[in-house]
Amino acid sequence: MMITKKKTPFFVIDKEILDDNIKKLKTALNEAWPNYIIGYSYKTNSLLWIIDHLKNAGCYAEVVSDDEYQLAKSIGHDNIVYNGIAKSKETFLKAVRDHNIVNIDSTYEIDWLDELKGEDCEVGIRVNFDLESKCPGQTQCGTDGERFGFCYENGDLKKAMDAINSKGVRITGIHLHKSSKTRMPCIYSAIAETAIEIAQKYELKLKYVDIGGGFFGGLETKPQFNEYFDMIAEILRQQFDPASTALIVEPGMALIGSAIDYVTTVTDIKATTRNTFVVTDGSRIHIDPLMTKTSYFYDIIHKTDAARQHMLRQVICGFTCMEHDRLFEIADSEELAAGDRIIYHKVGAYTMCLSPLFIKMFPDIYVKDKDTMRIVREKWSFSDYKRNCYGEE
Ligand SMILES: Cc1ncc(COP(=O)(O)O)c(C=O)c1O
Repeated sequence: MMITKKKTPFFVIDKEILDDNIKKLKTALNEAWPNYIIGYSYKTNSLLWIIDHLKNAGCYAEVVSDDEYQLAKSIGHDNIVYNGIAKSKETFLKAVRDHNIVNIDSTYEIDWLDELKGEDCEVGIRVNFDLESKCPGQTQCGTDGERFGFCYENGDLKKAMDAINSKGVRITGIHLHKSSKTRMPCIYSAIAETAIEIAQKYELKLKYVDIGGGFFGGLETKPQFNEYFDMIAEILRQQFDPASTALIVEPGMALIGSAIDYVTTVTDIKATTRNTFVVTDGSRIHIDPLMTKTSYFYDIIHKTDAARQHMLRQVICGFTCMEHDRLFEIADSEELAAGDRIIYHKVGAYTMCLSPLFIKMFPDIYVKDKDTMRIVREKWSFSDYKRNCYGEE
């Protein structure tokens, strides 16, 4: 098998799985709300091959900083959804002038609109609404509340909209992304209902409602795309018509999460009086950089067919010198041995883009397309590491 021959550790993108995710997403959206835009969330994984592939598949680039905006432009992408609190004035004004979808999220962006006086411009605005009261226990920050967008309930949203209108700029979209703990459909019923309430209350004529990302994808046991979008469309149709209002979605995890594996090799076995540690050439810093995961999807491939002892407990560890670089435990199973491979599945989202350069350089990345495997990012070299760095004279 190709995967057992390459030097580990490496990531491998399964093109077939990625394309299947894209196809399923498009089919579900097409059936529910044919006037849709998919803005692929760059922050989730902005590897060049991935952003190129999604551009070619017809997805917009959903970017949240001037650097991400420039990255999209650098690959010739002109279909951009520009969100976030890390825009620069220059890229913000250019995006508005270019008629990109720009969702205002900070008060200083409203000030920047002064530069556009007399020009025919429109923008969207990010709404901050109290999801915790509608879906208790499901939001990321619980009762501390979320910080993005302008608060609907305390009147700041209305004030921001009035300020934008007073500058002669039209508000033609609202952005309501929420990052939840549960990714459950009820998050999206709250988002859709809030979109209607806001559009009615402030008599908005909206060209788009952007419900953000945060969906599951590529997991049979979790909600499927049509469950989300059929329900969202049913609610939105009470106020909006697909003929005049587009539905924007910003998936990251749902497209790329399940399409990437991480392949590692067992390098050593260390027994102590307390434990048996299986050391590998992979690390938690590559697939759980925020150190929050409690389990993984994985497969183990033994190097040889030789008989193996039964072990009560083995702790799989990474290559770093941090004690907590421990990935998972196996109980009541055959012993692992040097040369065995451990392949982690569904590790494409918020992994390689958040990994630090700790102890080792970034690993190789391949794309698997049926029977071929092609490298799309080589392991970083020292010249990559030292580029734009200056030592002592
Ligand atoms: C504004 C915005 N859109 C889209 C996403 C993508 O979310 P996910 O990868 O969960 O689909 C995020 C993630 O934080 C986000 O902040």
